[in-house]
Amino acid sequence: RLLIVDFGSQVTQLIARRLRELNVYCEIWPFQRVTPESLREFAPRAVILSGGPASVPEAGSPRPPAEIFELGVPILGICYGQQVMQQMLGGRVTRGEGTAEFGRAWVSPEGKLDLLEGWFDGLEATGREQVWMSHGDHVAELAPGFEVFGTSPGAPFAITADTARHFYAVQFHPEVHHTPKGARLYENFIRIAGFDGDWTMAGYREQAVQAIRDQVGDAKVICGLSGGVDSSVAAVLIHEAIGDQLTCVFVDHGLLRQGEADEVVTMFRDHYNMPLIHADERELFLGELEGQSDPETKRKIIGKLFIDVFQKHAGEVGGAKFLAQGTLYPDVIESVSFSGGPSVTIKSHHNVGGLPEKMGLKLVEPLRELFKDEVRALGRELGLPPSFIGRHPFPGPGLAIRCPGEITREKLDILRRADAVYIDQIRRHGLYDEIWQAFVAILPVRTVGVMGDGRTYDFACALRAVTSVDGMTADYYPFTHEFLGETATRIINEVPGINRVTYDITSKPPGTIEWE
Ligand code: XMP
Repeated sequence: RLLIVDFGSQVTQLIARRLRELNVYCEIWPFQRVTPESLREFAPRAVILSGGPASVPEAGSPRPPAEIFELGVPILGICYGQQVMQQMLGGRVTRGEGTAEFGRAWVSPEGKLDLLEGWFDGLEATGREQVWMSHGDHVAELAPGFEVFGTSPGAPFAITADTARHFYAVQFHPEVHHTPKGARLYENFIRIAGFDGDWTMAGYREQAVQAIRDQVGDAKVICGLSGGVDSSVAAVLIHEAIGDQLTCVFVDHGLLRQGEADEVVTMFRDHYNMPLIHADERELFLGELEGQSDPETKRKIIGKLFIDVFQKHAGEVGGAKFLAQGTLYPDVIESVSFSGGPSVTIKSHHNVGGLPEKMGLKLVEPLRELFKDEVRALGRELGLPPSFIGRHPFPGPGLAIRCPGEITREKLDILRRADAVYIDQIRRHGLYDEIWQAFVAILPVRTVGVMGDGRTYDFACALRAVTSVDGMTADYYPFTHEFLGETATRIINEVPGINRVTYDITSKPPGTIEWE
C-alpha cells in the first residue's frame, strides 16, 4: 500500500483517484497524523507528498517527520511536497520574485529518468510537455544527491530526482487533467515502487467480509436501508459476511417515488432473503408535515422523525450492538484546512446522524475506503442488478423537497405520476446513464389551460435534469426541444392535475440541484 501525505492541496483526492485507477491501494493522511510510529505501523511501500497552500520558508510550515526519508521506499514530492523534501534534505526554497506560475506551463525534459519513461515519446518536435503549475515559491538550490531532469520558465527545477534513493520531486501537478501525461508519471512511479496493480474489487470483497466478521463477532447489526446505492451495497456486503445477524430497517415516510418501497422490499427480503423491517410510517410523517411550508422546517421535521422511527424499529431487533452505514471515502478524508489545522469533515449519512451515540451503538462502515464509482463496482461484484447500481441519487427527505411549499397527499400523488412519466421518457431515449439526476418538482401554483373544449386550472411542474461529477457543482442537461416537447405532452396527457410543464435550466451554483 501507498501513503499520500496531505499538506492541504485542493487536488490531493485526485492523486488517490489516479492510483486507484491503477489498482493500487492508497490512503490519504493529513500531515499531522504522520509520525514515526504511525509510519512504522502502516509500513507503506511508497510515499507521495502532496501539494499545499503553505510556504516552506515560513516558520511553522508543515513538515513530515524526518524518518519518512529513512524508510528506504520511493517517494514522490509534488509542488509543496517537492519543496518540503528539498528543504529537509539539504536544499533551499525561496519565495521567487517573478517566478510564480499559475496554470498551464511547459516543461522540457532533460536527460533520462525512469519516472519519465514514455514522457519523451512525441516530444521530439516541440521539446516540451504541457503541465499544470500552481506555485509561488520554488526550489533555488538542490539537495545533495539530486539532479535536474526537467525545467520550465518559472521553475528551473521542475523535475528533480535522487535516482539512487528513488526520491522524485516535481513542481507541477501530475494528478490534474491539465497535465495530459500525468497519469503516465504515476504509472511509472508505482512500477518503480514494485506494485503489481492487483488491488481488485474481488480482493476487496474478500478482505471486507473478513474484516466485518472480525469486527462484529456474533453480535447483531442493524442497517438503515434507504434504497440508495451506498446503503444497499453496504447491506449486501454485510449480509454476505454475517448473514442473519444483520437486520435492515427500511423507513417509508410517504415521500418515496412510485413503486420504490415495493422495489426495495422485494429485492432485499425476497431476492436476498435478508431480515428486513418495513416501517410504514407514511401517516406519521405526512401528518406532522401538514401545514408546513418552510423548507428548513420541513427538513428538520423529517430528520427528527426519521431518527425516532429508526430508533423505535431498531429497538425491536433487540440487543443490536452495531449500526451499519454506507459512508464513503470522500466523506471521511480528514482534510487539511488552510489555517494549517486539521478539520474533519464527516457527513451524517442516511439521516441517522447522532444515533450511534444515543443508542450506544458502534459503527460498521465497510465502504469507508471506497470512492463512489468503486462502490458501484463492488455492487456489480456482489451481483446487485445493474439497474439498481446505476440509479440516480435520491435525497433522504425525498419528494418533500421537490414539492415547494406545503405538502399535500394530492400534490404528492400528482408528483409521483409525473416523475414516473419523465423518467420513463429519459430511459426510452437512452439518456438515463448520461444524467446525474433527473426529477420533477411540482410548483405551488395553479395555472389556466385549455384541454378539449374545456378550461383547466391545474398545477404547473418543472422538470430538472443535471450533469455532475459529485453533486457539488452541476449543469442542466441539454435536452433537445423535441424531447422536451414530447415529454411535456405526455405528462399533460397522462397526469391529471398538471396542465403546464417547464424546464429548469439553472446550473449549480447559483442554484442547487433540489428545489428546497
Ligand atoms: P443540492 O440540492 O444541495 O443537492 O444541490 C446535492 C445532492 O445532494 C442530494 N441531497 C440530499 N441527500 N439528504 C440526502 O441524502 C438530504 O437531505 C439531501 N439534500 C440534497 C441531492 O439530491 C443531490 O444529489
